[in-house]
Amino acid sequence: MYNLLKGKKGIIFGALNEQSIAWKTAQACYREGAQLVLTNAPIALRMGEINKLSAECGNAPVIPADVVNMDDLKKLFEESMKHFGGGIDFILHSIGMSLNVRKGKAYTEIDYNFNQKTLDISAMSLHRVLRTAWDLDALNEGASVVALTYIAAQRVFPDYNEMADAKALLESVTRSFGYYYGIKKKVRVNTISQSPTKTTAGSGVKGFDGFMAYAEKMSPLGNASGEDCANYCTLLFSDYAKMVTMQNLFHDGGFSFTGVTQQVIDQMEK
Ligand SMILES: NC(=O)c1ccc[n+]([C@@H]2O[C@H](COP(=O)([O-])OP(=O)(O)OC[C@H]3O[C@@H](n4cnc5c(N)ncnc54)[C@H](O)[C@@H]3O)[C@@H](O)[C@H]2O)c1
Repeated sequence: MYNLLKGKKGIIFGALNEQSIAWKTAQACYREGAQLVLTNAPIALRMGEINKLSAECGNAPVIPADVVNMDDLKKLFEESMKHFGGGIDFILHSIGMSLNVRKGKAYTEIDYNFNQKTLDISAMSLHRVLRTAWDLDALNEGASVVALTYIAAQRVFPDYNEMADAKALLESVTRSFGYYYGIKKKVRVNTISQSPTKTTAGSGVKGFDGFMAYAEKMSPLGNASGEDCANYCTLLFSDYAKMVTMQNLFHDGGFSFTGVTQQVIDQMEK
């Protein structure tokens, strides 16, 4: 505990259960001294698990918001500002959903109506969140916004399906909005490209265990855990990263820059 976020106020999107990266990030931010508001889609909140997290984080308010509903987002920001008695210092966007993956549709056979929803929930939602904050002038000077992404935005991982396109769009929105928000209020917007991590969303990808084992062998440091990702988020929310913006930051134990490892070669020679 370093008190990295002492006095800072943040909104955490996407804590579904204890495995969620957002759940671990909320715990890490609270441990580092932040005050929090927790939010998720109304349907996800119905399970009630998030109340445990709220209690752990100083009874952080839980405010429902479907991230593709602008009225929900407006209400979320207004209520958060009221709760904090002022502006917001950081936001975690930890949201992903693929309707085509859920319905078992292959990439070459996707349904375009589902695809629109996937792109809206998983990528344009970041634009919606930033736009709502922009319109309400909800973010404090130098605030930090982090969204979670995956390397399938740059390289092909067949079973990641349409989420690869969603992540490419998410990273593009990060750069584009980051430009405008940087000029307007020195707000930083970045993505963290995380190792495969066993969560509800992660496990929805076909062949996930093989995927994870392969990444582990291909990463000099091994796969980064959800807890490691949470710690990295706190660093990006802190003032120590105040000049970092519009970046896609790989948090993957070195996977992204590794051609092959001895472990993989040994496996191939078996
Ligand atoms: N798990 C991995 O392997 C991995 C790797 C890299 C990046 N990521 C990314 O990390 C983020 C968090 O995922 P996770 O792995 O913690 O899984 P998770 O299932 O715990 O979190 C996904 C969250 O998105 C929320 N969500 C879905 N639709 C929503 C909507 N309409 N409005 C508001 N919230 C909505 C869900 O309720 C859930 O809380 C996602 O962006 C995911 O793509 C995950």
